[in-house]
Amino acid sequence: MAAITMKNIVKKYGDGFPAVNDVSIDVQDGEFMILVGPSGCGKSTLLRMIVGLEDITSGDMIIGDRRVNDLAPRERNLAMVFQNYALYPHLTVYENIAFPLRLAGAPNDEVDRKVREASKTLELDEHLERKPGNLSGGQRQRVAMGRAIVRDADAFLFDEPLSNLDAKLRGQMRTEIARLQKRLGITTVYVTHDQTEAMTLGDRVAVLKRGVLQQLASPRELYTNPANLFVAGFIGSPPMNFLPVTVTGTSAALPFGDVELPQDKVDRVPEGKLLIAGIRPEHFEDAAVVEDSRRGQGSTFTTKVDVVEWLGNEAYAYIPFEAEGAVRDQLTQLERDLDGDTMRSQLVVSLDGSSRIAEGDDAEIWVDVRHMHLFDPETGDNLTIDLDRAGRVPAKEDPEGTAAAEQVAQGAAAH
Ligand SMILES: Nc1ncnc2c1ncn2[C@@H]1O[C@H](COP(=O)(O)OP(=O)(O)OP(=O)(O)O)[C@@H](O)[C@H]1O
Ligand SMILES: [Mg+2]
Repeated sequence: MAAITMKNIVKKYGDGFPAVNDVSIDVQDGEFMILVGPSGCGKSTLLRMIVGLEDITSGDMIIGDRRVNDLAPRERNLAMVFQNYALYPHLTVYENIAFPLRLAGAPNDEVDRKVREASKTLELDEHLERKPGNLSGGQRQRVAMGRAIVRDADAFLFDEPLSNLDAKLRGQMRTEIARLQKRLGITTVYVTHDQTEAMTLGDRVAVLKRGVLQQLASPRELYTNPANLFVAGFIGSPPMNFLPVTVTGTSAALPFGDVELPQDKVDRVPEGKLLIAGIRPEHFEDAAVVEDSRRGQGSTFTTKVDVVEWLGNEAYAYIPFEAEGAVRDQLTQLERDLDGDTMRSQLVVSLDGSSRIAEGDDAEIWVDVRHMHLFDPETGDNLTIDLDRAGRVPAKEDPEGTAAAEQVAQGAAAH
């Protein structure tokens, strides 16, 4: 096992387009790291540079304590599990798993020991003599992982391994991969464009947009402290609501009325400027079902509800609004960036299942303002981010040495 350190990695393909642009990610020994982002953001390119299937234009790729930029794939001792697992149809499950060991000329007793060990971990014992063609998608997946396990690789690399499975199996395999990874404790880098996989599997998640790392943090940190509009919109389902807002004093003017903001948020945003407020659906509630003890933590407004979807334990209410100018432009751009087709000029609020709000009602809605984020519409930055709980945000990082240089300069000025 080994840690994987990527330092300022750049990949330019033939046409000069930077598919990966100055990405630094440190994968700890034994960590489950997710690379996530919309199609074309450079996930596969980055993974292929770790394995050695793609040249690195600049930067350092370090595995364990070796710089591997110039090493061939087989010298890097990593195991890659692809989207289509490329099993040999004419070989049994046993021989499929044994394949890398046979290739390396391992003696029979060693092959047997390792294959049986892997098969036990993967619960494939009763399938060892079968052919891949007779296995389910999930079982085939496990055979592919078995092949990776017997190699005693330093790390596992997965490129969207579940994308061609049906939804139910995908859910099962997700739990299975998580369990196996924990049991084996092997360093893992896993590429997906599915935010649910990212949230459930990863110890940490690296969110990429057009080849640039946006934020590197635990799922909880990403969810509660997204660095910018892109991360905020990408993580979470149904997605965070984005609304135009102007702050005056402690009052925030939303399309539905004014709400009171906590002082710590007010202090961090410019007064009177058009901003984007980000509020997750679950931070709204039917004011009628909010307990008195919680009520004071939030603020209420009254608005007409367009549609209600009641799901038993909860309900979603949809409330249309207008976004103008800079806010509308930024939200349209965001939708393009996210590959999304969601209609963002409606507010989605999640209500308790006991709520009696119905379509067409003028409803009193409560909002937990403590969880409201405020974004700069020009840059998309989250102005109210808690950087201590946001993991790594490259855009906010001090360029190397600047802080130290400033300190030296200040020290010199003092003398
Ligand atoms: N061989 C290549 N030559 C030129 N450009 C390439 C090549 N492979 C990828 N690219 C470009 O690099 C960028 C990143 O591609 P990459 O395959 O890494 O994306 P991805 O995040 O894995 O996307 P997806 O989710 O669709 O698999 C894209 O803009 C793509 O067009
Ligand atoms: Mg890809």
